Amino acid sequence: MQTRITLTATIALAGFLLGTQAGADGHGDTANYRSAVMSAMAGHISSISAIARGRVPFESHASGHATALGATADMIGDLFPEGSGGDDTDALDSIWEDAEGFAAAVAAYEDAARAMAEAGGADSQGLMRAMANLGRTCSGCHDNYRRPDE
Ligand code: HEC
Repeated sequence: MQTRITLTATIALAGFLLGTQAGADGHGDTANYRSAVMSAMAGHISSISAIARGRVPFESHASGHATALGATADMIGDLFPEGSGGDDTDALDSIWEDAEGFAAAVAAYEDAARAMAEAGGADSQGLMRAMANLGRTCSGCHDNYRRPDE
């Protein structure tokens, strides 16, 4: 266990150092940041899922994960500046070509993420409901604006 934590921390630190060393082409950094935030969102939602399904005895963590997801409601709209797509990313051009549809997908996520934050103290059924609503807005956006897996 100790080894595993140390290893993970070392990898994370190495990535952080390499990342800062590799320096900046603004958009690549934005795309990497976007991926990091998305991965954090996925981590919080799967953590809540494990709690709500009773797979782990950490009910007291639910509101922390839910609050973190709520905070991403204020971030997601910033993650897609024009020019931050391209072949090196999974962000499709439709994000900028269909700005109206994309804004609706962002707004749906914001509402569901804020509702998730409010449901943080709920029982497992309330958590599951909020999680299902939020999950629909993840795939609602991915289906149209993220490059599908090969
Ligand atoms: C408004 C659109 C939108 C919403 C909402 C959204 N995503 Fe994403 N997500 C994207 C796009 C676009 C990408 C590809 C980004 C890139 O490659 O630059 C992505 C990438 C990801 C990735 C891959 C990150 C990586 O390793 O590169 C994960 C994981 C992810 N999203 C999880 C989620 C989860 C979980 C939710 C909901 C809680 C969510 N996303 C909501 C648009 C969205």
